[in-house]
Amino acid sequence: MSMEIYYFSGTGNSLAVARDIAGKTNGKLISIASLMDKESIKTGADVIGMVFPIYYEPYGGVPLIVRRFIQKLENISSKYIFAICTYGSGSFKSLKFLDELIELQGGKLAAGFMVNMPNNMAGENINNAQKQQKMFNVWKENIDIICGYVKARKEGEFDLPNVLVGKAYFLIKLIVTPLIFLFKPITLRHLKKYSNSSGKSYEELLPLMDNSFYTSDECIGCGNCSRICPVRNIEIVEGRPEWLHHCEFCLACFHWCPEGAVKSSELKNTVRYHHPDVNISDMLEQINR
Ligand SMILES: Cc1cc2nc3c(=O)[nH]c(=O)nc-3n(C[C@H](O)[C@H](O)[C@H](O)COP(=O)(O)O)c2cc1C
Ligand code: SF4
Ligand code: SF4
Repeated sequence: MSMEIYYFSGTGNSLAVARDIAGKTNGKLISIASLMDKESIKTGADVIGMVFPIYYEPYGGVPLIVRRFIQKLENISSKYIFAICTYGSGSFKSLKFLDELIELQGGKLAAGFMVNMPNNMAGENINNAQKQQKMFNVWKENIDIICGYVKARKEGEFDLPNVLVGKAYFLIKLIVTPLIFLFKPITLRHLKKYSNSSGKSYEELLPLMDNSFYTSDECIGCGNCSRICPVRNIEIVEGRPEWLHHCEFCLACFHWCPEGAVKSSELKNTVRYHHPDVNISDMLEQINR
């Protein structure tokens, strides 16, 4: 069995998960961001894994870059495809949405796993060391189970325990899933506000979310934000970052700035975070830098 594991990550949660799976299955780890210049992606592997964070669940949760990646995939009809999505608070319909995207390319999502990790956007669990540790422990306890599913090519959808919400999560999920569309207008208003744009669709507004970023006087012009950006959306001009408006809003520039100088009007209460097992050079590899 040959396996390729494609990943996208802003603060390392999804990279750490992808690396753990690759380590246990002999899978080849491939960065999605590093492939985006290609017109199409053909793979000789029998098993394809995708690991990425959930962004804005009411709009399907799948990051725009991952959607573009899927559109480039060719001859995937006979592959066993699995996905692991990391999320911060709750995720409801993203695996279904992902399956629809894969089906448009002639494939099928055989197995999907949801993994609760520190929320790199909200303050709710990234400044609670105990909860963070519990999330990492839950993940470690479940790696072998997930690898077992993948190796046996079993099908299905699985939520690992949600540390933030606890046992009530499954009940909440049952109730919220059919109603998630009700959160769309709130999300759109939020995106319009912080992207400072009157764009009409999610796809138009998200790339403009970099309008929420600005720098403080702590900026030392080191250029890390520009190097770490997975979609080359930052240019350093006269020693300061300038955002180019094709953002994924992955928050890598915000969280990895060594001086905490990248600010966002949207993230007033968010403390800087990255997964403890991932360092800046791991992140730079995502875009071959
Ligand atoms: C733009 C954005 C939107 C997000 N939306 C959601 C969401 O709708 N639901 C959720 O549970 N977590 C959400 N999160 C949290 C991330 O999914 C979570 O922290 C993830 O593990 C980050 O992975 P990474 O470290 O690989 O980037 C969002 C994060 C970002 C940056
Ligand atoms: S990473 Fe931070 S300090 Fe370095 S150039 Fe970017 S904003 Fe300035
Ligand atoms: S500009 Fe910042 S938030 Fe936007 S894609 Fe680049 S690193 Fe991510």
